[in-house]
Amino acid sequence: MKRFISLLAIPIFAFASCAGGAGGGAVTKAGASKGIGADSMEAKLTMEKPRDIRIMADPYLSDAEVAAMREGMMNMPPDTMEASLERGKKMYHDPTLGNGNAGQSCASCHEGGGSIGGAATTEVIKPGGFVFRPKLSIPTLKGAAVSFPKPRGPRRGFMVNLAGMNSMCIAAFNKGQWLDANSQPAVDLQNYIAAFSKGKKWKPGAKKILPSGPVAGAM
Ligand code: HEC
Repeated sequence: MKRFISLLAIPIFAFASCAGGAGGGAVTKAGASKGIGADSMEAKLTMEKPRDIRIMADPYLSDAEVAAMREGMMNMPPDTMEASLERGKKMYHDPTLGNGNAGQSCASCHEGGGSIGGAATTEVIKPGGFVFRPKLSIPTLKGAAVSFPKPRGPRRGFMVNLAGMNSMCIAAFNKGQWLDANSQPAVDLQNYIAAFSKGKKWKPGAKKILPSGPVAGAM
């Protein structure tokens, strides 16, 4: 055990001294007096010489980009949960979400955040032209958000988070394009779906909930 600790201590010490050199030494008076960590966003915005600490904070932004970000962030009107939920609700009822052309919205199957029951069929065309048409029972979304991340796919072959699942429905059933998971619309839609699980305990990996029970011949 003693040997294990001493082995661990070497890299930790090496990292600490390295961070001290690059971050601590370069914090300007403004940042240091407020006790801001060198890698915090606030530190980046209050630095007199941002270049000094961006080695740790963000190596990919140019001085001009940092200045533009600062300007943008300082002039942003506040967003609210209510406004985001309103935007999410609109998307939920929009059959053209992601440029979808199937003529149906999330609400067509998950009406009021629930399930219309039954199953939906989608089409997956595999390389070589083989068409696979899985039939999937339609779950309720009340309690769905707290079940992510979890494995999905016909054989539960890949892990997906809520943003990915929303986009899978957009692609499979609304016949639209995936949303960029970190874009404002994708986050608003997640927020709206998450609201159907308000107060529920987080259970990553939990199975989908079928209020009217399993459908014969469907996954
Ligand atoms: C044609 C019906 C249909 C439409 C339209 C539809 N879904 Fe689904 N949704 C399903 C089915 C079927 C599943 C189960 C998929 C599976 O088992 O892999 C599902 C699963 C989900 C889940 C995961 C639930 C869980 O507990 O695992 C979420 C979240 C979800 N849909 C959100 C959406 C959103 C958001 C939209 C609109 C963009 C949408 N769905 C549109 C049928 C639909």
